Amino acid sequence: MGNLWSARFQTEPDEKLKAFNSSIAVDGLMYLEDIEGSIAHATMLAEQGIISKDDADKIIAGLNGIKSDIQSGKLVIDPNAEDIHMFIEGVLTERIGEPGKRLHTARSRNDQVATDVRLYLRKRAATVMEDIRYFVDALYKVAKAHTDFVMPGYTHLQRAQPITLAHHLAAYAEMFMRDYSRFSDAVGRMNYCPLGSAALAGTTYPINRQRTAELLGFTAPTANSLDGVSDRDFAAELAFAASLAMTHLSRLSEEVIMWCSWEFKFLELDDAFATGSSIMPQKKNPDVAELVRGKTGRVYGDLITLLTLIKGLPLAYNKDLQEDKEAVFDALKTLSDCLEIFAPMMLSGRFNRENMLNAAKKGFINATDMADYLTKKGMPFRSAYKLVGGLVFRAQEKDIGLEDFSLEELKELSPLFDSDVYSEIDLYNCVMKRSSEGGPADIERQLKHIEEFLNA
Ligand code: ARG
Repeated sequence: MGNLWSARFQTEPDEKLKAFNSSIAVDGLMYLEDIEGSIAHATMLAEQGIISKDDADKIIAGLNGIKSDIQSGKLVIDPNAEDIHMFIEGVLTERIGEPGKRLHTARSRNDQVATDVRLYLRKRAATVMEDIRYFVDALYKVAKAHTDFVMPGYTHLQRAQPITLAHHLAAYAEMFMRDYSRFSDAVGRMNYCPLGSAALAGTTYPINRQRTAELLGFTAPTANSLDGVSDRDFAAELAFAASLAMTHLSRLSEEVIMWCSWEFKFLELDDAFATGSSIMPQKKNPDVAELVRGKTGRVYGDLITLLTLIKGLPLAYNKDLQEDKEAVFDALKTLSDCLEIFAPMMLSGRFNRENMLNAAKKGFINATDMADYLTKKGMPFRSAYKLVGGLVFRAQEKDIGLEDFSLEELKELSPLFDSDVYSEIDLYNCVMKRSSEGGPADIERQLKHIEEFLNA
């Protein structure tokens, strides 16, 4: 029988079982980590006198040969193999004979795969974190270039108070900075080494788990062998961090899509990041943002896959866990892909200052400022609120703005009105007066906060 685990079997596995059971299409991606883990294990086994130094040297040379042969394309990962662990051990034994058969001493595929996945995800998470940093940098650059682009700030998608584009984009930068730290935290919790947990109950060999943990760059070995082989918290946690980052990207996508519409026309995407229609010659579509919004659902699906996968499993390893990789790899890859295209799309877009300003001029977004003007002159805020509300109603009927009432008309309503009211409700002044910490006129502090992140 050809299989590494088939010693107690009398017949060959069914072809359907072989295909169904195989995970190599996904875990083949982890060949480097599998080799790295095996080299650390063999090194430790020799140091502890569990295998000879000579055998370990042959194993390590053999594994390094397999690594370079896969990298150069000389050795192709067999798509019919059961998984990457079996494939590499099989090739090793074919190539070096007896010593290859000693590699799996004091080890199970259960601790092996748990180690490989962590090593692999550590790299993928680092890539995602770099992508987030790159994206925050793009938001920062666009924000910095548009500190004087006044636009309406919305609540309920109704024009509410004036802000700037810089202020709006800096809000997103804050979200992605938190996403970055969520990944960083998750990686910190993941970085413990399950190797040496063996199948579930450790081993009778005098292994040194501190040593393998150290060789592989882990903080420490996992404390409990059952937990070591059955924990996939880290995969769910990374998928959650990815889901939330996608949520943030999806919100921004929604805004980009609206901003590109004829109704808004705040933003014109560069041709290189927009698409056309096969029937309507006039169309220029924000497909990237729409795809990102759509792919958000797919990443949520990955998270739900992982949570559901784990929830009913008795300790310790169960084959269900083989399904973990596809979901978490997909979540991280999808997020990376989205960030890597969204950044240049934002950087190359052209914002329309005039349309944003015109939108801010309509909708009475200086009404709060007029109420505040009266309040500062002594009128109780609630009375001022009521007075301005009445004015808005009249202005709406006449299709004019608050600034279009004459001073006489205003004075009829309250003697507190004076000629300085006009500058108080001027749109630019309304923005520039909002200098409380975190407000649109306090943008320099916010840009600094982002710079600190980017320079860290
Ligand atoms: N391909 C398997 C996985 O990804 C490796 C572990 C198999 N262990 C076992 N006892 N069958 O989970």
